[in-house]
Amino acid sequence: MPTIPNSAINGVITGWGRALPETIVTNDDLAKTLDTSDEWIRERTGIEQRHIGGTTASLSIESGRRALEMSGVDPLSIDALILATTTPDRTVPATSAAVQHGLGLRCGAFDLNAACSGFVYGLVTAHGLIAIGMRNILVIGTDTLSRITDWTDRNTAILFADGSGAAVIQATDGPGQLLGWDIDADGSLEDLLYADIGKTLYMEGKEVFRRAVRIMVDSAEKSLKAAGLTTSDITLVAPHQANIRIIEAACKRLDIPMSKTSWVGDKTGNTSSASIPLALFEAADNGRLKTGDNVLLVGFGAGMTAASAVIKWKQP
Ligand code: COA
Repeated sequence: MPTIPNSAINGVITGWGRALPETIVTNDDLAKTLDTSDEWIRERTGIEQRHIGGTTASLSIESGRRALEMSGVDPLSIDALILATTTPDRTVPATSAAVQHGLGLRCGAFDLNAACSGFVYGLVTAHGLIAIGMRNILVIGTDTLSRITDWTDRNTAILFADGSGAAVIQATDGPGQLLGWDIDADGSLEDLLYADIGKTLYMEGKEVFRRAVRIMVDSAEKSLKAAGLTTSDITLVAPHQANIRIIEAACKRLDIPMSKTSWVGDKTGNTSSASIPLALFEAADNGRLKTGDNVLLVGFGAGMTAASAVIKWKQP
């Protein structure tokens, strides 16, 4: 299990931003063309509506600009841009190129695809870059899953949507935020959830559900152990917003009350790489976090990937 050396330079989130497309599609809207109902979707997933539209670059620029403004960091001082996405706008180049240009950054920029675990993978990678000398990193999680969703398939169309969340992470010489982390993948499960190039998503929903609960619990336990904490030390969980029943089942096994979770999936659907930052920063914007709180980020996704992190919140 990776542990963080005490000597490592650590980072802290100093600004964040969220972006959702304007167009809202409700469950009733979907029920006009699909054999489904608002009642079924709410009961089985917790989702009430989702936002659809934009490109991965345009949403990333919107959330990234907000994060930069909040942090007060000059775009020219950003040392690296990490764009977590599983829906790039082009095959070549990486969508981070357009985002780097759009935000006026002059730094290394790359896409990172770990599906719905992508933002936490990006957060961990950013701390690695800080540990080897970088000072200011912009991590953005964005997906436009609506572009790879088959809108005639009720198994997937009710779940997936578009959105973006961004964080500026700055090196600190004082105590940092990252207390424990875990990234994992099991490529043997690739066929449970995939989209071939140019095609739409295929998903074995029941099996993904079953695996997701176990994967989230395993990953969270690894991060907590690395941090030297237990679930009772956690103030807030920002879980991947796939399905409220998955979150309820994982939290039950972890013995974390649902009142400690941030659930925005009712309004956003599953936005993949954007889902954890949207949940985390909505909680922060609503005053649910204060300096010193221990926050658990935990996600799972196609791959199947898993990622979690325990961070000590520092209110900017
Ligand atoms: N509307 C209405 N009925 C539907 C439906 C829909 N959108 N989708 C399936 N049904 C029906 C099924 O046909 C089935 O009918 P039957 O009992 O007559 O055979 C019944 O509802 C139950 O279907 P089931 O597949 O067992 O539902 P479920 O409770 O497993 O919920 C998912 C389906 C997809 C919502 C759920 O499995 C899930 O969320 N899985 C994980 C998906 C996920 O997280 N993916 C992203 C990973 S990052």
